[in-house]
Amino acid sequence: TTTTTSTSTNTESWGSRVGLILAMAGNAVGLGNFLRFPVQAVQNGGGAFIIPYLVCFLLMGIPLLWIEWAMGRFGGKFGNHSTPFILDTMDKRKFWKYIGVFGIFTNIAVAAYYCYLESWTMSYVYHSLVGTFRGMDQNQVAAFFVNYVDITTTTTGLPFEAIIFFIFCVILNTFILSRGLSGGVEIASKIGMPLLIIFGMFLAYKGITLQSGKEGAVYGGSVGLNFLWTPQFDSLWNPKVWLAAAGQIFFTLSVGMGTIQCYASYVSRKEDIALNAMSAGWMNEFVEVVLGSAILIPISVGYLGIDKVVELTSSGGLGLGFRTMPYLFQQWGVFLGAFAGVAFFGLLFFAGITSSLAMGTPWMGFLQDEFKWSREKAAFSFGVIVLILGTPTVLFFNEGVFDEYDYWAGTVSLVVFALAETILFAWIFGMKKGWKEITDGADIKVPDFYKFVIKWVTPFLLLFVFIGSLIGPAG
Ligand code: PHE
Repeated sequence: TTTTTSTSTNTESWGSRVGLILAMAGNAVGLGNFLRFPVQAVQNGGGAFIIPYLVCFLLMGIPLLWIEWAMGRFGGKFGNHSTPFILDTMDKRKFWKYIGVFGIFTNIAVAAYYCYLESWTMSYVYHSLVGTFRGMDQNQVAAFFVNYVDITTTTTGLPFEAIIFFIFCVILNTFILSRGLSGGVEIASKIGMPLLIIFGMFLAYKGITLQSGKEGAVYGGSVGLNFLWTPQFDSLWNPKVWLAAAGQIFFTLSVGMGTIQCYASYVSRKEDIALNAMSAGWMNEFVEVVLGSAILIPISVGYLGIDKVVELTSSGGLGLGFRTMPYLFQQWGVFLGAFAGVAFFGLLFFAGITSSLAMGTPWMGFLQDEFKWSREKAAFSFGVIVLILGTPTVLFFNEGVFDEYDYWAGTVSLVVFALAETILFAWIFGMKKGWKEITDGADIKVPDFYKFVIKWVTPFLLLFVFIGSLIGPAG
C-alpha cells in the first residue's frame, strides 16, 4: 500500500472511553489491592505503613502514571505498542530498548506467579459454591489450602486440582487476549469491574460492621481498622517501611513494568490522558484504601485478634485469604457464608484477570509489531510461556519461593524500571516536551507543581528506594 503511517499490522484500538478507563482501572485493581496491600500493612506495623504509602502515591505514583500514559500515547503515534519500541521512540540509544525488553520480561515473570494465584481464586469460588468448607474447623480449612498447593502432602505427588485450574485459567486469559482489546479485554473489564465493586461493598460492609460478641467474633472489625489506620509518624525514619510502601504503590498502580504504556499506546491521540490517568489511578486507590482495608484485616482481626493475624502473615502473606477466610465466612451461616465466599473469591478473580490480561499486552504488542504475528498467535504464545514459567511455582510451591518471585519481579524490578523511565522522560526526552505530552488534549489543569516533582522529586525518591532495595530485602 502507499500508506505513509505505520506499517504495523497491529491495528487494535479501544472501543470507548469508558471501556478504556475500566480496562486501565482493571489493570491496576488486582489481587494486590485485596491480598498484598493489607498484608504489607500488617507486616509493616499497621498504621506505620499509611503515611509512607500516601507520600509514595502522591510523589511517585501519580507522576509515574502521567509519565507512562504520556509515553504510551507518544509511542502509539508512531505505531509502536511494545515497551522496547515505545522507549526507542523517545531516545535512539540502544540502552532504552534493553530496558524495554526487561519490562516485557518483568510482565511475564509477574504473570507467571500471578496467574497461578488467580487460578486459586477460581477454584475457591467453586469450593465456596458447592460448600466444601461447610462444617470444617479452622485447621481443616488451613489443611485444605496446604493440600491444594503443596505437592508433598498429596498422595499422587502432584497438586492435581491446582494444575487443572491453573491450565484452565491460562486458557481463559489466552482466549480473551486473542479477541483483542475492544472485543476481549474491554468486555471482561465491563463485566468484571462492576461486579467487583458490588462484591467488595458487601464484604466491606460486613467487615466494618462486624461486632465483638456477634456472629462469633471476639474482637470486632474496628480493631483491625484502627490497627491499619492509626498513623505512626516515627515510621517515616524506617527505610524498610519506605521500600515496602513504594513497592506496594508500584505494584498496585501497575507502574514500573511498561504495562500502562502498552495499553496507552492504543488510545487515540486526542484522548485526555491526564484526566484518564487520574480516573484510573484514583479508582484503584479507592478500591485499595477503602475496600482493600475494610475486608481482609477487619474480618480476620475481628475474629482472631491482631497478634494472631500478624503471626499468620509472618511466614509470607498471600495465603491469609485462602487459609483463613473460608473458615471465618462459615460463621455467618450456610447461605451467607457461601455467598461471602463466592463474593470474596469472585472479587479476587475479577481483580486478577483484568490485571493478568494487561500483563500479556507488552509481549503481544511486541510480536504483533515486530514480527507481524496475528493477535491469536501472539496470545497463544503468551499462554504457553506463562504455563512454562508458572510450572515451577505450581510444582515447587512453598511460601518462600512465592515471596521470592514477588520480591524480585514484583518489587525490585519495578523500582529499577521506574527509575530508568523517569530519567528517560524527565531528563533525556526532557520536561519541556514531556509536559506537552502529558497535558496535550487535557481538559483538566495538571498542577504546574508536578512539572517540578517529575524532574526533581520523583527520580531522587526512586533512587533512594532503589538503593534501599539493594541494601536489604523488605521483611
Ligand atoms: N496492579 C496489579 C495488582 O494490584 C498487579 C499488576 C502489576 C498488574 C503490573 C499489571 C501490571 O494486583
